[in-house]
Amino acid sequence: MSSFQYRGNRLYAEDVQIQEIADSVGTPCYIYSQTDIEQRWREFDTGFGSHPHLVCYAVKANSNLAILNLLARLGSGFDIVSIGELERVLAAGGDARKVVFSGVGKTESEIKRALEVDIYCFNVESETELYRIEKISSDMGKKAPISLRVNPDVSANTHPYIATGLEENKFGVPIDSASALFQYAAESPSLEIKGVDCHIGSQLVEMSPYLDALDRILALVDQLYTQDIELSHIDMGGGVGICYQSESTIPPQTFSAALTQKIKDSKLKILIEPGRAVVGNAGILLTRVEYLKKTPKKNFAIVDAAMNDLIRPSLYQAWQAVNPELVRTDEPIEYDVVGPVCETGDFLALNRHLSIRENDLLAIGGAGAYGFVMSSNYNSRPRAAEILVLENQYQIVRERENIQSLFANERTASFEIRSKKDSL
Ligand code: LLP
Repeated sequence: MSSFQYRGNRLYAEDVQIQEIADSVGTPCYIYSQTDIEQRWREFDTGFGSHPHLVCYAVKANSNLAILNLLARLGSGFDIVSIGELERVLAAGGDARKVVFSGVGKTESEIKRALEVDIYCFNVESETELYRIEKISSDMGKKAPISLRVNPDVSANTHPYIATGLEENKFGVPIDSASALFQYAAESPSLEIKGVDCHIGSQLVEMSPYLDALDRILALVDQLYTQDIELSHIDMGGGVGICYQSESTIPPQTFSAALTQKIKDSKLKILIEPGRAVVGNAGILLTRVEYLKKTPKKNFAIVDAAMNDLIRPSLYQAWQAVNPELVRTDEPIEYDVVGPVCETGDFLALNRHLSIRENDLLAIGGAGAYGFVMSSNYNSRPRAAEILVLENQYQIVRERENIQSLFANERTASFEIRSKKDSL
C-alpha cells in the first residue's frame, strides 16, 4: 500500500501532513516516502529466496544522495550509466563492487575511473566498446570485468521511446553475434568474463517478454558452455512497470520469483536493475494552483510546477494522477493542469475532473522515478526541492535551487561589438 493516503480530507505522506511541508519548504517540491522505497526494494530482494542474486537499483530513475544512501544501507547494488552516477553512488556510501556500468557511450575517462574503483562489471554494449575497455585495462595493468549486453530481439509492449530490446534499437549486441565476442573476451588477458545481460524496455507490465528473453539467454549460456566459457551471472535488466492509472503490474516479488524459477537448477547468480518500480510510486510532485483560468473552450488550472520539473506527461504523453491535498465537496470541473512555461506542450495532466480553488495544493502521483532527474532550468526556473519522509518526520534532501545558482557557471564574453559595417 502507498504511504500517500488521505486522513479525513487531507493528504498525508506517511504520518506527515503534506500541507505542513508546503508551508515550510514551499512548492514545487518532490516528496519521497522512505517506507515505500524500503518495501519495494525488499520485495524484489526476497523474491529470489536463497538463490544467489543482486538487486542493482537503476540510479537514473532517481539519483538523490539520500535515496542512494538508503538503498546502499539495504545492501543494494547499483546500475549506473555515467561517471556522474558512479560518483553519486560512492558519495552516498554505495559499494563499487556492487556496481554494474551500462550505457552505449562509455568514454575513456569513465572506463578508467570505473576500473580504478573496481566496479563489479561493465555491461558492454558493442564490439568496439569491448576493444576500448580491453585496451584501457591493459594499459592500466588490470583485467576488466565484463558482461555482454545482448539484444534478445523480443518485443516489449511499451512506449517506443523506452523499448530497448528490438533489433532496430541502439542497445546491446545482436544475440547471434554474442558467442564470437565472448570467445574473443575469453582469450584476452585483459578481460574477465562475468556474465551476460539484457534490458528489454521500461514500464513493462507483462512477464512474458522477460521469460522469452531469459529463454534466449539461457540458450546462449548453453552454447557458451560448449566453448568452455562459463558465466557467473545473468542480468535481466530493469523495466518492471508501475501502476500510474489502472495498469495491472507485475508485483516485484513475483518478478524475482519467476526469474528464479527458470534458473534455479543452475549456479548462475541473477542480477536485476529495477529503477521505476523501486521509487516511482514512492514519490509525488507537490505543486500549488496559482490561477484558475476559464476560456470559452477549456478550463486551465495553472500551477507552479511545469514541464521543466516533470517532463513525462509532455514527452511521453504519460498519465500521472492529480490528487488535491484538500478534498473539497465542490462540484468537480474539467481542467487541463498546466505550468507557467511558454509552450503549449507544457502540461502535467489533461482533462481532469477536479474540485479545486486557487492556492490549493495538488500532488502529482508516480513522480518518484524519472521526475526530478529529468528536470531542467528551462525558462530560467530554479529546480524544485526534494524531501524525504519517514513516519512523522521529514528532511530536505535537496535544497531548492536559487536565482544565483541559475547562472553561477556563466560569464559574459569580452568580445567587442563590431561596427555595423563589419558585422554584416
Ligand atoms: N537498466 C538499463 C540498462 C536501463 O536502460 C534502464 C532504464 C533501467 C535498467 C531501469 O529501468 P526501469 O526499471 O526504471 O524501467 N525516462 C523514461 C524511462 C527511461 C528508462 C531508461 N532505461 C520514463 O520516464 O518513462
